[in-house]
Amino acid sequence: MPHNAPDFRHRAELTEKMDEPCSREQLRGCLRDLALTNRLTMAYRPLLRWLDALEIAQPHLAGPLHILDVGCGYGDSLRRIERWAKRRGIAVALTGLDLSLDATVIAAEASPAESAIHWVNADVFSYTPRQPIDLVVSSLFTHHLASDHIVRFLQWMERHAQIGWFINDLSRAPIPYHFFRIFSKLARLHPFVQHDGPVSIARAFHPVEWRDLCFAAGLGQQDVQIQSFKPARLCVARRKAQSREERQ
Ligand SMILES: C[S@@+](CC[C@H](N)C(=O)[O-])C[C@H]1O[C@@H](n2cnc3c(N)ncnc32)[C@H](O)[C@@H]1O
Repeated sequence: MPHNAPDFRHRAELTEKMDEPCSREQLRGCLRDLALTNRLTMAYRPLLRWLDALEIAQPHLAGPLHILDVGCGYGDSLRRIERWAKRRGIAVALTGLDLSLDATVIAAEASPAESAIHWVNADVFSYTPRQPIDLVVSSLFTHHLASDHIVRFLQWMERHAQIGWFINDLSRAPIPYHFFRIFSKLARLHPFVQHDGPVSIARAFHPVEWRDLCFAAGLGQQDVQIQSFKPARLCVARRKAQSREERQ
């Protein structure tokens, strides 16, 4: 049967299997293969580069650097951050937040015993952090949201992230869409990932859409950095202190 590719001019209104009810074992298989895909596509690189570029100097902080990962899924991004911080001797407090209780249980089980990451089951829009957050990060989360919710999420991060925030998501384009559709089948990735991967790309963004979403959230072009990374990532970074310095 011929494949009906979406119209890449607009964000597709499609649903993902991982957002529908499923068993914990199904979700575990899906999240594990999503983490494998993250590793194979070097998806942590943009975030780790951004963290390095922040040049966090511990003495300037009142305590450990508190990083919140929204929509943490398998928790692989936070485990990478934990290793990054350990190598650099930066004391961190790491929180992984997910709407799915099963995801937080799976993330905790996938973490080594010595990991100190705190896993929280909550909807970000009704979550009030117990302690101040320095950085809010997310990966493959925003494309799950409708535009008005993305604007709310941007405003939520602006309110809660004291130093800055980083969105790591996908770029909407036909080549990665078809490449991943074929690759995920050949590699026999979890059936949810075979379905949701191309759908995620079709639900993702063009840079101009991020500019409009940031503008709707009250952020100007000088406040955010929108950058593409190969393969198929489009990231939005906000560094509050730097923006203040630059305006002075
Ligand atoms: C595609 S997964 C991304 C997992 C992981 N961050 C990664 O990069 O592989 C998106 C995650 O966002 C979570 N999520 C969706 N809506 C949410 C919300 N309102 N608050 C918190 N988490 C949410 C889902 O449960 C899911 O685990």
